[in-house]
Amino acid sequence: MMKRFLVIAILCFSVCVVRAQSVSNAPEKVKWFTDARFGMFIHWGLYSGAEGIWEGERLRNGNNYAEWIRYRNRISQDDYIKLAKRFDWNRIDPEQWVLLAKRAGMKYILITAKHHDGIAIWNSRASSNNLTALSGSDRDVLKELAAACKKHGMKLGFYYSHWLDWEHPDGWDHNQEITGRISDEQYDRYWQTKVLPQLRELLTNYGDIAMIWFDMWVDYKTTVVKKAQLDQVIKLIHTLQPACLINSRLGFPSTYPGIDFETLGDNQLGAVYTDHPWETSGTIANSWGYNALENEYKSTSQLLQSLIGNVSLNGGVTLNIGPRADGSVPYEDVIRLNEIGSWLSKNGESIYGCTGLKLRPDQHDWGRITTKKAGDKQLVYLQVYNWPLDKILRLTGIVSKPEKAELITDNGRTRLNYTQAGPYTHIELPNVSGDHFVSVIALTYSKPVELNEKAVAESTFGGLALTGSNSAAQSHAYKIIQFDGVRPKHTVLDTAGNLTWRIYVSNPGNYNANVSYHNNSKNDLSIQLNADNQNLTGVLKPTGRVVVEPHDSYTEEFVDNKIGTFKFPKAGYYDLTLTVNPSLGQSLSLNRIWLSKE
Ligand code: GLC
Repeated sequence: MMKRFLVIAILCFSVCVVRAQSVSNAPEKVKWFTDARFGMFIHWGLYSGAEGIWEGERLRNGNNYAEWIRYRNRISQDDYIKLAKRFDWNRIDPEQWVLLAKRAGMKYILITAKHHDGIAIWNSRASSNNLTALSGSDRDVLKELAAACKKHGMKLGFYYSHWLDWEHPDGWDHNQEITGRISDEQYDRYWQTKVLPQLRELLTNYGDIAMIWFDMWVDYKTTVVKKAQLDQVIKLIHTLQPACLINSRLGFPSTYPGIDFETLGDNQLGAVYTDHPWETSGTIANSWGYNALENEYKSTSQLLQSLIGNVSLNGGVTLNIGPRADGSVPYEDVIRLNEIGSWLSKNGESIYGCTGLKLRPDQHDWGRITTKKAGDKQLVYLQVYNWPLDKILRLTGIVSKPEKAELITDNGRTRLNYTQAGPYTHIELPNVSGDHFVSVIALTYSKPVELNEKAVAESTFGGLALTGSNSAAQSHAYKIIQFDGVRPKHTVLDTAGNLTWRIYVSNPGNYNANVSYHNNSKNDLSIQLNADNQNLTGVLKPTGRVVVEPHDSYTEEFVDNKIGTFKFPKAGYYDLTLTVNPSLGQSLSLNRIWLSKE
């Protein structure tokens, strides 16, 4: 591994000498985080001793979060703390977590200092209900972890459950919505005697803390927490460690002063390019804390694609492991992290310090794009999930011509031939892909790239699929219905109007236009297609239904209908317009217009 890394390092020297800098415009304080893109979450606490099973019964409730077992299975505090006996302190070694994170290419570690169960995992002076005291150990796991992080150059952050605390008599649990709430005075007692003192300990005793990651996923106005209490937390952090980052799950929107980055929902990946710093916290299986009864793990490709997809939208991923009570990390997690790490040791330059291009998020059916500036140059990384069968990678949207195109392989970089025409870059690929998981092609541009974000992207089939989502202009905001597992994603044109697409023709000649549609009515529906002063008229017959499963499962039929042929005399941009004029009650459900060379 080391040797391979060296070879790559030498081969990429010409690119690496130009100082790489991130394209994102996040404030200085957050820059390390937006450059890091990938970190480790560790859910480890008293619940790890239960492993998702309590006295012969599996975890109740479908969300299947093993760290919720105390609440879900209605376990009394007296019984719950007996789990402390299951911790094997002779085997627990936090340095191993750090080494694993390093191997995985992660740049920070975030550990659950106190989860919803309220049990601190360090020897907290503010509450004797902590793992060290309960298990009769004299170890401070956080101290050891902080030392190991320092030794291995890893940033360290703490997860702290501020809102929920099932241990403290004045803390909050959801059931109080039914049983009656504790008073504001009681809750403030919990806040002042536990939350603030514990945060103070975390921010005083463990050196530099990169972030405190809070966890309240509802608006504070809808629950017991008060704005003033949250403001106290921000103030405390800013006073003790001004560089420490705070995530949006503190309970404020990401625009609130003091919130440094947004955390999306659990495992919720980005959908659009977002300028402010953000991340997804994600699991490898489903639970965060170790759950012995889970066996559905995400594949390495899936995890890599989540990371790449987020980076292409200016976000990152904090990926979780749930070690067991003896500190060991499940093998299924370890193999995936090792594989991701080996991918990153080869392709990491396409992730760290990278962001995305402001093109349509999912416009290429072969993968995603990441990018960064390097001095005056711009590097664009094509993340190829799907190696095209005809060995041509079709990139749409960058008008500038690259200086060079290279495939990153296990044995260094391979130069690739390419052509540039309008917004299309066509790259000739070798038969063998650059990587088993995701192949990366690095394009180097002599200056910042110029985009055409309106142009419809070519598909891996070579043609253009014109849809409601990739149109450049619409006379009405026609409704888009998402793919529901059976019917394709489609746009409902229920009023007279039109959609226009910006297309580029690199190869002049005849192009067939086929419409895939559903016509819900009993009458024909006539449509017009217009491009380059040529008009094609199509008559779309009523379409029926199609059997999905025998006997009882039917859905709308979408059929293909050839409308005609356009002759595009020369290379260049064209506008293609679809005009509809449905009668009352009639609508055209447009799946796509497939435009391809005759
Ligand atoms: C959720 C869960 C929690 C987990 C967290 C991680 O909010 O309550 O168990 O720690 O998400 O994102």
